[in-house]
Amino acid sequence: MSNADLLARVTATPYEQLGGAPVLRRLVDEFYDIMDRDPAAAGIRAMHAADLTDVRGRLFDWLSGWSGGPPVYNARPDRKCIMSAHAPYAIGPAERDQWMGCMRQALAGLEVDEDVRALFEAAFARLADGLRNR
Ligand code: HEM
Repeated sequence: MSNADLLARVTATPYEQLGGAPVLRRLVDEFYDIMDRDPAAAGIRAMHAADLTDVRGRLFDWLSGWSGGPPVYNARPDRKCIMSAHAPYAIGPAERDQWMGCMRQALAGLEVDEDVRALFEAAFARLADGLRNR
């Protein structure tokens, strides 16, 4: 890798390293498709609305800002604090692990460098654990 490439790499936001909006959209879609079909995620799937269209858009918007891309979730009139958004749901270790199981599979399906995938997986694991309210 040239010095210029290296500099571009270390100064890129995680959002840019992932591949920006198109790759983030694929990640979110794949994540909810997996949640929808994986029997191991049936517990958390049942906590979500039957139609996942709305939450796909919300998670995409939230992750965009979280990963250093456009802060589109904050511009939504119906934005919520991420902890309060989850307060109605009982999230313990089992729910956290089901959520991470879907996200791990979704990340594994992306064609991104292994270090970028590992960066996101570790950050998601911290976040999912932080959302536990049980
Ligand atoms: C890294 C961890 C997580 C992130 C970033 C995340 C993100 C989000 C976002 C952005 C929303 C939409 C909030 C809104 O604007 O109303 C949402 C909704 C929701 N999340 Fe999470 N979440 C995470 C973990 C979890 C976990 C562990 C569960 C386990 C049950 C969960 C269950 C839900 C449910 C049930 C909804 C409502 C969906 C619906 O109305 O259909 N989330 N989440």
